[in-house]
Amino acid sequence: MTVFNDRFLKACRREETDRPPVWFMRQAGRYQADYREVRKTHTLVDICKIPELCAQVTLSPIQQFGFDAAIVFSDIMIPLEPMGIDFHYKEGVGPVISNPLTSKRDVENLNPIDFGKDLQYTGASLTILKNELNVPCLGFVGAPFTLASYMIEGGPSKSYIKLKNFMYGQTEAWHLLMDKLATNMADYLLYQVESGAMAVQIFDSWVGILSQADFKEFIFPHMQKMVQYIKSKTDVPVVIFGTNSSHLLLDMKATGADVVGIDWKTDVAEAWKSMNYEVAVQGNLDPTLLFGDWSLIEKRATKLLDSIPNKPGYIFNLGHGILPKTPEENVRQLVKLVQGP
Ligand code: CP3
Repeated sequence: MTVFNDRFLKACRREETDRPPVWFMRQAGRYQADYREVRKTHTLVDICKIPELCAQVTLSPIQQFGFDAAIVFSDIMIPLEPMGIDFHYKEGVGPVISNPLTSKRDVENLNPIDFGKDLQYTGASLTILKNELNVPCLGFVGAPFTLASYMIEGGPSKSYIKLKNFMYGQTEAWHLLMDKLATNMADYLLYQVESGAMAVQIFDSWVGILSQADFKEFIFPHMQKMVQYIKSKTDVPVVIFGTNSSHLLLDMKATGADVVGIDWKTDVAEAWKSMNYEVAVQGNLDPTLLFGDWSLIEKRATKLLDSIPNKPGYIFNLGHGILPKTPEENVRQLVKLVQGP
């Protein structure tokens, strides 16, 4: 029986660890030959919905690289299906929605989720993982803003014009949507915790497109309520992450999250200092750097590690999800470098 590796949980709680824990966002995915093999016979949604397969895919990067945390294989779009959102994944693009929201009526018509029924496969996957892993497994959701961006734009967007029009022009409907998403996603995270998740991450990937003033007015109250609600029900650590979000870090911290993810454009040491070391931080090597020569990766990773002050609460990660086609060998060496001899 191997000893449970709780480095990641300790770092989330800003307790001393022998070295920084390391895991990568989107660590199970197409850069892995094993994942591509599974995808030859199963769709992305199959993997999310078949617990044995989900557990296998979640475990594979742990077995392959020895990460200090797992993240249950799913997608931020999955819980939107029982809410009544019809989507599919378009190759090379991402999620595309056939019935984007345009009115308050559309928001009112969204269904509440019955977790034990509609999303019981995620619970079943986490229960298998709890028995098979000797590292903690994170549960996750998309944040209300990032989910709303897909629900209103109908897919990925560059300008977010429809989203901003909705937010500025139909403010009541906007707040209703944020409230519905915050409530349902908080309950979904709690369901994941009940099923075996030992930490949870809220992915707010696209929130950085907002100004600080817009974030404060249209997003922050819902994020704070969401985090506080989760924290009132469980003591598992809550991680929040956004990209292009250096101007929002203090507000992200003010939600009450235990860990703030730092995107790859932001200096981790400076960001941590600006937050007074009152939260743990996670990040932030540029994922595209992993396409470079090992000598460059080594130089930059060492520089990052050396820049971190000697305080508890640092988690090594990339500054956004790992990309398809990343050489597996670079991942292996990078994890080894962080873990030391
Ligand atoms: O190990 C893991 O972390 C994988 C689990 C995971 C997936 N999506 C699987 C997935 C996680 C944590 C996500 C989160 C997610 N999904 C986010 C937030 C994180 C981020 O990177 O910003 C977002 C914005 C999405 C929405 C989404 N789903 C996009 C934009 C795409 C297409 C992206 C692409 O690379 O093509 C997806 C599809 C998706 N979700 C894939 C995977 C592995 C693509 C692979 C496939 O088709 O098999």
